[in-house]
Amino acid sequence: MSDVSLQAARRRTFAIISHPDAGKTTLTEKLLLFGGAIQMAGSVKGRKAARHATSDWMALEKERGISVTSSVMQFPYGDSIVNLLDTPGHADFGEDTYRVLTAVDSALMVIDVAKGVEERTIKLMEVCRLRDTPIMTFINKLDREGKNPIELLDEVESVLGIQCAPITWPIGMGKRLKGVVHLVSGEVHLFEQGRNFTRQDSTIFASIDDPALEARIGAAAMAELREELELVEGASHPFDLGKYLAGELTPVFFGSAVNNFGVQLLLDFFVAHAPSPRPRETTTREVGPTEGKLSGFVFKIQANMDPQHRDRVAFMRVCSGRFNAGMKAFHVRSGKEMKLANALTFMASDREIAETAYPGDVIGIHNHGTISIGDTFTEGEKLSFTGIPNFAPELFRRARLRDPLKLKQLQKGLAQLSEEGATQFFKPLMSNDLILGAVGVLQFDVVAYRLKDEYGVEASFEPVNVATARWVRCANEKKFEEFRDKNAVNLSVDAAGEYVYLAPTRVNLQLAQERAPDVEFLATREHA
Ligand code: G4P
Repeated sequence: MSDVSLQAARRRTFAIISHPDAGKTTLTEKLLLFGGAIQMAGSVKGRKAARHATSDWMALEKERGISVTSSVMQFPYGDSIVNLLDTPGHADFGEDTYRVLTAVDSALMVIDVAKGVEERTIKLMEVCRLRDTPIMTFINKLDREGKNPIELLDEVESVLGIQCAPITWPIGMGKRLKGVVHLVSGEVHLFEQGRNFTRQDSTIFASIDDPALEARIGAAAMAELREELELVEGASHPFDLGKYLAGELTPVFFGSAVNNFGVQLLLDFFVAHAPSPRPRETTTREVGPTEGKLSGFVFKIQANMDPQHRDRVAFMRVCSGRFNAGMKAFHVRSGKEMKLANALTFMASDREIAETAYPGDVIGIHNHGTISIGDTFTEGEKLSFTGIPNFAPELFRRARLRDPLKLKQLQKGLAQLSEEGATQFFKPLMSNDLILGAVGVLQFDVVAYRLKDEYGVEASFEPVNVATARWVRCANEKKFEEFRDKNAVNLSVDAAGEYVYLAPTRVNLQLAQERAPDVEFLATREHA
């Protein structure tokens, strides 16, 4: 086997999906603990503390500094290399989350035992379904009273439309929580409080027939357990690897993240069964992870990670081949070779300069705005990875500057922040307006806040007469010039220099389209 095939097979790249407060941060911390990155566990906690201390979007801002190191966390476990990609927790920032989910090979769903399936989980699950992403489930907070486990699995099956195969089963709950039974190995792992920071998380019995177990938990609990296990067998699905990999069935684990209980069983099963990098579609062909030549796509951009330097880091998921420090790669959209100097890797213990990276890994590439979300890198082949969602803005506002002398900074700030993908920035041909488009209204507040904090510009956003945007293009240059001259009032250029038609009403858009049949009106700027 080649070096690339071997290394690709070891990779497990995933994200955690959950409703806020279900325990994503806590579980991340415990997973890192098993990965030997104990000091990192502390900083995940710190990030969370910062988030609690401030209001919603400011918190996002505060998180930024630390979220760099935690946006991708890599740790070794057994023979595997685990890459955990963080998904932003704010409801209004769904697009970022969607894009992160395009860069993983599987997902872990965390559900609060008392709350069951919540709204955000439903949404994220829909996204996973688009690519049939395999999902494992961790039912958390078993140290508290919650829903009946069998009913909970029913809820997951009916609300999320995925079959459940319990791998562990809880013995009691809340104050009565005694442990879990591993339904595949038959082992019983007892719950002992106060061991939440040790790696060995329980006392283990070989099976429920071990007499020492009954002596330990009592005859009544044993009888109840046997009865329940019979019910479970009848009411649930057995684990089926094929169905799991097809996204049709989810293995389910029970535990308590904060007590580090049930987490190792989950992790062991995860590295054993979760998929290593899978082939990915491009505009021309499918690219397999074992191919020798490097390819990858950018799924996230983060601006101003270091406010002193103003550079942006593009997060690239490696899909095939091997990345070597300092190598040159072909940036397909621009058609240019780029030296990937000082790329970052994301070992959980620290951010490091990347020496090598393999399929499934993520590297961070510093740049000054040449790289966009959705861009593909290869070793020369002209192909582009598909399926990285780009949402058309639905809300438009005009930026209004307090101090006119700061126009340059404002333009720069709007352009750079828009590279992150949550907002889009337009400059009309016929006016000096600066128009920002976004999907969620909170984005305008975030941008105003960041403009002030990162660029020293005080700006506000006011309503503007734009109902919708269409990227326009035309194969015939002459016809396009004609179109441009006639429609200059409604045309803008976006941050990438492409023409966009900003329509004041839907009717106006329709008319414009009818009058220019040779011009294509695209609802999104297609990446690459
Ligand atoms: P999130 O990232 O999904 O938003 O959730 P997070 O891990 O921050 O957990 C949300 C809250 O639930 C935290 O409490 C956390 O301590 C608690 N929690 C996580 N796992 C368990 C568990 O297994 N059992 C119980 N009982 N609680 C759990 P908090 O009060 O918001 O924060 P903190 O002050 O405890 O850090």
